Amino acid sequence: MDKPKVVLGVSGGIAAYKACELLRRFTESGHDVRVVPTAAALHFVGAATWSALSGNPVATEVWDDVHEVPHVRIGQHADLVVVAPATADMLAKAAHGLADDLLTNTLLTARCPVVFAPAMHTEMWEHPATQENVATLRRRGAVVIEPAVGRLTGVDTGKGRLPDPGEIFEVCRRVLARGSATPDLEGRHVVVSAGGTREPLDPVRFLGNRSSGKQGYALARTAAARGARVTLVAANTGLPDPAGVDVVRVGTAVQLREAVLKAAADADAVVMAAAVADFRPSAYAAGKIKKKDGQEPDPIVLVRNPDVLAEISAERARPGQVIVGFAAETDDVLANGRAKLARKGCDLLVVNEVGERKTFGAEESEAVVLGADGSETPVPYGPKEDLADTVWDLVVRRLG
Ligand SMILES: Cc1cc2nc3c(=O)[nH]c(=O)nc-3n(C[C@H](O)[C@H](O)[C@H](O)COP(=O)(O)O)c2cc1C
Repeated sequence: MDKPKVVLGVSGGIAAYKACELLRRFTESGHDVRVVPTAAALHFVGAATWSALSGNPVATEVWDDVHEVPHVRIGQHADLVVVAPATADMLAKAAHGLADDLLTNTLLTARCPVVFAPAMHTEMWEHPATQENVATLRRRGAVVIEPAVGRLTGVDTGKGRLPDPGEIFEVCRRVLARGSATPDLEGRHVVVSAGGTREPLDPVRFLGNRSSGKQGYALARTAAARGARVTLVAANTGLPDPAGVDVVRVGTAVQLREAVLKAAADADAVVMAAAVADFRPSAYAAGKIKKKDGQEPDPIVLVRNPDVLAEISAERARPGQVIVGFAAETDDVLANGRAKLARKGCDLLVVNEVGERKTFGAEESEAVVLGADGSETPVPYGPKEDLADTVWDLVVRRLG
């Protein structure tokens, strides 16, 4: 089988060096990458680096190898074009259809999905001109990944940082796997909870669970790749922030409830993938609980935590808001799932069996998505992103 053909456009931002890592991820995973830097990008990283790392020739202008007509051919043959970093200037040129170098020509001739990963100072990103250009590109079907918040060039911090190359790669991989960049969640705000809550007993101990957060992160990543504005409420996860996603960190079930309710106020869909503790210790010891010689420990008395899934399902923050829950079951999986779906009042419930290799901490899973309308959608064993995409397919259908 031919290797998927990826065009990596690099424009002239300080984050151009991070595109070397993105390029490496593509080549190491069997993609044929043609790097098309702008002239400005070559001020940051030279053509020799791009050529050596990609194993392909590198040109910035339409005047090299004219007999091969590269200004049309490169775009026509690509399976994916990703521009990382995308400067404010490049977004403006792409939005307005300029074609004054090889990369802008390629963007006009490409019929494949196009992903932009902008990076610039916060002022440039927030400028109405840039925002309008981004809106134009998204309206036309491009995926524009929201920049991350963090350290920018020099000592400034703010929104505008290039997301982690590994996360940009994941977005591209999903877009390639789906064969289209159809941003069917464009203009939608979705909330995803991930991880597992921890209920403290004392300053060093807690009651927790085994949820790694990987399924929730896959949901957040795939929703962003499909154009959604994503708020990820992450409970005790150690995973890198997915590209273009707002991450809110929480610890306990009570904190998770607060963060989910706040984010859900204007959300089109809420997917509760986090494992939220049903109970918490009734008392919190301000100092570490000590062993007492010759005495049995005091029993731990538990009280119920709020049922966030039932609450947001009963009191939808917006009409038509779609609510999705998760159920990890050990036996009678489907019957227990159906009962939970009815009890919680959500629209969809993803039911998976807990067991070896399955669910907690694994990269892959299998599940059945139950619908309140009686539907059953089995998702075979595979990457958590596949399950995530199935969930979003079902959510999109319900959003209408
Ligand atoms: C040191 C330095 C860093 C820059 N970083 C960025 C950046 O991160 N994002 C951006 O949009 N422009 C940045 N610029 C400005 C662009 O290089 C400039 O707009 C250039 O014309 C972009 O050309 P291109 O879009 O064809 O690559 C930077 C310029 C300099 C000198």
